[in-house]
Amino acid sequence: PNPVVAIAGATGAVGVEMIRCLEERNFPVKELKLLASARSAGKTMKFRGKDIVVEELTEASFKGVDIAFFSAGGGISRKFAQAVKEAGAVMIDNSSAYRMDPNVPLVIPEINPEAALHHNGIIANPNCSTIIAITPLWPIHKVNRVKRLVAATYQAASGAGAAAMEELEQATRAFLSGEPFEQKIIPHPYPFNVFSHNSNVDPETGYNEEELKMVKETKKIFGDDNIRVTATCVRVPVLRAHSEALDFECENPITPKEVRDILAKAPGVKIVDDVSANYFPMPKDASGKDDILVGRIRQDISDPSGRSIAMFVAGDQLLKGAALNAVQIGELLVR
Ligand code: A2P
Repeated sequence: PNPVVAIAGATGAVGVEMIRCLEERNFPVKELKLLASARSAGKTMKFRGKDIVVEELTEASFKGVDIAFFSAGGGISRKFAQAVKEAGAVMIDNSSAYRMDPNVPLVIPEINPEAALHHNGIIANPNCSTIIAITPLWPIHKVNRVKRLVAATYQAASGAGAAAMEELEQATRAFLSGEPFEQKIIPHPYPFNVFSHNSNVDPETGYNEEELKMVKETKKIFGDDNIRVTATCVRVPVLRAHSEALDFECENPITPKEVRDILAKAPGVKIVDDVSANYFPMPKDASGKDDILVGRIRQDISDPSGRSIAMFVAGDQLLKGAALNAVQIGELLVR
């Protein structure tokens, strides 16, 4: 029988994309429950042509549910984990609450699908910047081990939720008409500006939380504690796709052609690398697309040993970075 599916955070930026992914990918659904805060209860959303009434998320919401997608923040995931477990459902959690828990698999289906099957009731969806960086890196890592990754991100507003996307649009309009605008979600002037990621900075290391997620999650997903990762995470005034400059060093010499040959056959990625037209991955092109776009593939000339590659990627934060990856995890469970 098809599973009963719930989405906690259905009205959010990721939740809306989860509904679309379930629909577009023909996910087998017996019944879909849409859950959000009391503010949204009673609102209707469409799924497969039918109106579904949004319900308030409560402990009783999970009775009869088989798969519960969560994207309403880490606090909500923690608060309802026990209720999901007691209902006998599996939680697929987009928040960071359980990602580094040793009892919780952290899954990118193109990389470690088998991990999803060894869950104890919770499967975590990785951080969006991590997914977008390492989905294209994994097929290279399998051929020629990646020893070190240096990443710089150019992150969109969507990672901070639907309200942040709306705020970017409103703040930009106000900026262009010379009107004052008080931002409530994003802590720095956002239009025509760039700022260090708005997560807490660890005073000891100087790294922000987003950067440390990339460092730790990569090791867990690759199952390789030896991979060395550093990142600088920055938000740019883009609505919904993250871009990243990736520089990595392999165990053995590697050429751009080898990287292209590997990525041409890799799932979930698409090469966009038109040197003559100066056309490379752009968040505008990645928005609304399942694949992570990869280009600017070149030898890193700062490493004379020929073991390093520089490239640039762009991926939809709401899709492969969140909703799509979560739904793909769900597919591993129902298959
Ligand atoms: P709501 O729309 O009713 O506020 P985003 O990541 O785009 O900010 O979305 C967050 C999602 O999490 C929304 O669906 C939001 O519902 C939901 N949410 C936020 N707080 C709560 C809460 N206390 N209980 C249930 N759902 C919540």
